[in-house]
Amino acid sequence: MRRADDGYDEPELKKRTDGTGRGYLFYDSKHAVTALELQDLYRFTKWGRSRSLEQIERMLEGTSMCFSIRKEGKMVAFCRLLTDFVFRGSIWDIMVHPDHQGKGLGSALMEYLLEHPRVRDIPLIITYTSELVPFLERLGFIQKEGTLMLLRKPIEYS
Ligand SMILES: CC(C)(COP(=O)(O)OP(=O)(O)OC[C@H]1O[C@@H](n2cnc3c(N)ncnc32)[C@H](O)[C@@H]1OP(=O)(O)O)[C@@H](O)C(=O)NCCC(=O)NCCS
Repeated sequence: MRRADDGYDEPELKKRTDGTGRGYLFYDSKHAVTALELQDLYRFTKWGRSRSLEQIERMLEGTSMCFSIRKEGKMVAFCRLLTDFVFRGSIWDIMVHPDHQGKGLGSALMEYLLEHPRVRDIPLIITYTSELVPFLERLGFIQKEGTLMLLRKPIEYS
């Protein structure tokens, strides 16, 4: 067990496989993620490629939970949650390495997050995407009038 910053005893890092024998391991801990690996994954996105190591390190520190998938030691998928663990949560930075896209990993990682014991009772979870509406609708998200956003920088630098 490891004690997380908020006092939660994190179980051992290795959480589970995806059950298909393909060698993908799922993790629910920040300690399974390094800033360097994350920067490598951000390089494949339009919006995350300019993030510096120093920014990513600070971001990880301030993030409530990180969810990731590894294969043969390499991180191939990631997403993160900001939350108070009671009322509200938001999900950010859902990404799968291009070599591993289209195999159900993005959906499996989101389901892993949404069904996690620390997350499944949070009544309102939001996310933002410019392109992935069908992907998120399939996971139960709905588009809702009344959602507002203060975008202080173009999305490529935010
Ligand atoms: C979006 C992303 C995480 C999906 O991961 P994935 O592992 O390829 O997704 P899955 O295999 O679970 O696909 C689930 C469904 O979503 C659809 N989907 C996947 N990527 C999509 C995209 N970029 N646009 C629209 N639909 C997409 C798939 O077609 C699939 O539907 P199908 O089963 O009918 O074929 C991945 O494409 C990615 O990392 N994209 C770049 C990063 C990004 O822009 N992230 C979103 C910002 S928060």
